[in-house]
Amino acid sequence: MSVQEQLDELRDRAQGELDDAADLAAALAWEKAHLGPKGDVTLFLRGVGSLPTEDRPLAGRAGNALKIVLADLFEQRRATLAAHDLEQRLAADAIDVTLPGRPPSLGAEHPVSQMIDELSDIFALLGFQTVFGPEVETARYNFDLLNIPADHPARDVWDTIHVESPGELVLRTHTSPMQARVMETTQPPVRVVVPGRVYRYEAQDASHEWMFHQLEGLAVDRHITMADLKGTLTELARQLFGPSRRIRFRCDFFPFVEPGVDFAVDCALCNGKGCRVCKGTGWLEMGGAGMVHPRVLEGVGYDPARYSGFAFGLGIERLAMMRSGVDDVRAFAGNDLRFLRQFARAA
Ligand code: DAH
Repeated sequence: MSVQEQLDELRDRAQGELDDAADLAAALAWEKAHLGPKGDVTLFLRGVGSLPTEDRPLAGRAGNALKIVLADLFEQRRATLAAHDLEQRLAADAIDVTLPGRPPSLGAEHPVSQMIDELSDIFALLGFQTVFGPEVETARYNFDLLNIPADHPARDVWDTIHVESPGELVLRTHTSPMQARVMETTQPPVRVVVPGRVYRYEAQDASHEWMFHQLEGLAVDRHITMADLKGTLTELARQLFGPSRRIRFRCDFFPFVEPGVDFAVDCALCNGKGCRVCKGTGWLEMGGAGMVHPRVLEGVGYDPARYSGFAFGLGIERLAMMRSGVDDVRAFAGNDLRFLRQFARAA
């Protein structure tokens, strides 16, 4: 076989193999086999020197020409395969913009926040401004200015989580400390409600949590009487539970009021006859209240001979429980979405 015939055969074979190379890796292997340092074309050119002298010029020229032809073919094939490869990757990674989007999951207002907003709206109609106070409170506001001195047994009722020993800073046990804070910075007439979190060192059960929400109310002016307190709380009960609700006061003791009462609303479900929700009593307990103690007024520099006032405090979770028939206060902070979703209002 002549040199030219050998090279023609090599070219045909190489061309066929290159057409068969299905991907870039196969094409690169082909390049190595033919044009690489140990490729057959390279080896052929290296062997030209050992041919008979008269054959060398032709063999050299033909070998170089083949090398150029194969390099060209390789470049074309490589470009085709690379383009194909890119197309495939684009197709695989493609985003289908016609797919429906994933709906973002929307949050909803917590039932306690809903109750706070509602209470705030009701009291706004009655002329009360909503204000907020600190949850970390000094013993002076949490106890002393509320007529609860350090040795008073009533402090036990508000068994406390101390932030700093020996108890100068506490997590407030009730929203009542805001009574003194508001009065210290304003002159009568005062009408405020204070919603917020309170904390107690307390074992938890279905009706006790170590953290819960209260709403404090305070009205101070000339000639305020228990009738004003009763009227305000009756209106609150009607707004919350329906038009013909009645309020019951019973004597109770709180150091910062005199007289002190606890108050209940007649059960809207059974109209006071007694049912499961009111536990057969016909009444739903709402909170504590009373006429602001003269010592509390004096403590903030008000003259008790000139001014009088009423105050009340109610449990916000309790109200939400009564209204929605929730039987365990722990559900509110329990973070169970199945519970919370039942209160979600449409936006
Ligand atoms: N601070 C009281 C408590 O946490 C509730 C309370 C009772 C508030 C009587 C008042 C009140 O304003 O007059 O148990």
